[in-house]
Amino acid sequence: MNKLPKHVAIIMDGNGRWANLQGKSRVKGHQQGARTVRDIVEEAKNKGIKYLTLYAFSKDNWSRPKEEVNILMKLLVTSLKKEYNRLINNNIRLQSIGEVNDLPTPVKDELNYVIIKTKNNTGMVLTLAINYGGKEELTEAMKTIAFKVKNSIISPEKVDQSTINQHLYTRNLPAVDLLIRTSGEERISNFLLWHIAYAELYFTDTLWPDFKKEDLHKAIVDYAKRERRFGKTSQQLTN
Ligand code: IPE
Ligand code: IPE
Ligand code: MG
Repeated sequence: MNKLPKHVAIIMDGNGRWANLQGKSRVKGHQQGARTVRDIVEEAKNKGIKYLTLYAFSKDNWSRPKEEVNILMKLLVTSLKKEYNRLINNNIRLQSIGEVNDLPTPVKDELNYVIIKTKNNTGMVLTLAINYGGKEELTEAMKTIAFKVKNSIISPEKVDQSTINQHLYTRNLPAVDLLIRTSGEERISNFLLWHIAYAELYFTDTLWPDFKKEDLHKAIVDYAKRERRFGKTSQQLTN
């Protein structure tokens, strides 16, 4: 049990390719991907994961064709509406990271509504990364810290890791233990740069719409076999 990751983050990738393989439009892939989100959220909670962070829409995803962006935004709203009861019933608290203010109003409103309604839930914390970029997150943090230093709110010599941590969107999240990416791509794509410093990385060829509860289980079992040394020697860990 102590080998259960506390914080699991997932780069949910492969919706488009899944749809292409079936001769369907990319929209169908995103719709099926949304169903996977529902199942995996519930399964993570049932497994006792405390924090689940999902990459839903990156800053760079705005560069996709306008129709696809619109569909993704609409899907966010419908999924939030549809899954609201399930979040309540499972005692899950929803939060988001990223530039929420730049999202279309219906997305912002629905997101804020669910966040407020679930804020006293004490079960798993589900964090949706929407309009998120890791470099942007760090840049914003540095900008705020620079202003605070300039205005003598923080003294420069007091700036340490915890100062930086406290200025991130992710300030109330622990470090990521296990980072999963589906679809065979082995890159980070500007996700949680700060929090993955010592994360165990798990890549699978399975496309996100095909990712099942058993696949989450496999990733967790794989994680449990790893030795996390945090710079120490293996011998030090067993003593
Ligand atoms: C992930 O699937 C969903 C988002 C990025 C919103 P993709 O849409 O990136 O699927 P592929 O990579 O084109 O297959
Ligand atoms: C990363 O996937 C973003 C999300 C899963 C939301 P992408 O499909 O956008 O990443 P790249 O462009 O292949 O690196
Ligand atoms: Mg992709």
